[in-house]
Amino acid sequence: MEFKTLLTSVAIVAFSAGVVSAQEDATLAIEGETILTSAAAPAFADNLDTVYSGWLFRKLETRALQMDDFDNPAFVFVDQGIDLFEKVDGSEGKACASCHEDVEDFAGLRPSMPRVEDGTLVTMENLVNDCRTERMGAEPWKYTGGKMTAVTALIGLQSRGMTVDVAVDGNAAPFFERGKELYYQRVGQLDMSCSNCHEDNYGTMIRADHLSQGQINGFPTYRLKNAKLNSAHARFKGCMKNIRATPFKVGGDEFKALELYLKLRISSSNIKTKSATK
Ligand code: HEC
Ligand code: HEC
Repeated sequence: MEFKTLLTSVAIVAFSAGVVSAQEDATLAIEGETILTSAAAPAFADNLDTVYSGWLFRKLETRALQMDDFDNPAFVFVDQGIDLFEKVDGSEGKACASCHEDVEDFAGLRPSMPRVEDGTLVTMENLVNDCRTERMGAEPWKYTGGKMTAVTALIGLQSRGMTVDVAVDGNAAPFFERGKELYYQRVGQLDMSCSNCHEDNYGTMIRADHLSQGQINGFPTYRLKNAKLNSAHARFKGCMKNIRATPFKVGGDEFKALELYLKLRISSSNIKTKSATK
């Protein structure tokens, strides 16, 4: 059987004891659709042969939750996202839905983010807040806040099953280089880089956590530990705090560059789809 795609937009992250080894042959199917969970790593990811989805590192019952939209607690927040999308806010008397009539029109957007516009790296959160401030006359939402993650999850969900494909043109090159540099830079009192954990030691246990490769294709993700949706930048911040480093600013240039670098590692233009027999 062939894996079809690499992206699952609403994913769950569980943090509880219990060792499950990364099983390459486990199959993630949601609503009857099989979702790719491993692929050959791109050449620039020097320390990895294969990229694995975080799903493979979760306990079996958590994997099962993620395969059933009814049981998946992330969907409570997606419902909140629908309400927010339809709610009038700001001086212009508009809701998102006033202009974006059908949220399904956002299909294909999440896999292409972040993207470079006029020399600036733009994230999904930037797009949402630009519409709020420039088109609705509303206050921007907090970058990693509950309203933002609810709506970005709703938008991301429209692309479930689609392949991650961030543009790798010349405009993105400086941001890619910056992201790569940050990924390998040792920081904090523990003097560690992202790579030290997520490339050198994935598959091992850190206290109660089964260490994954730190992929971001599923973000925002619901985390059992704090029972809410978490954005990618909030996760980066948590990892930096864990190594006693001063985290970069959420929504800032460093985390955006890291986001781009991590997305490029799992972009279809960079990876070769593996076929698995099962
Ligand atoms: C007054 C009309 C209007 C309102 C209200 C509005 N938008 Fe937009 N939005 C636009 C226009 C116009 C664009 C740029 C053209 C396009 O891509 O559709 C855009 C672009 C976007 C994009 C990028 C789409 C892409 O493919 O690049 C996102 C995401 C988005 N809006 C989300 C939202 C959300 C979420 C809200 C509510 C918080 C919202 N918008 C409110 C008019 C609006
Ligand atoms: C001390 C080890 C350590 C370091 C260093 C570290 N992380 Fe993590 N990270 C973890 C652990 C533990 C988890 C939770 C279990 C898992 O999914 O790997 C995690 C989770 C993640 C996740 C969520 C993965 C998923 O599937 O939900 C991302 C993304 C991530 N880290 C990115 C980063 C980035 C970017 C850096 C560098 C700024 C970094 N991490 C540094 C230990 C680390």
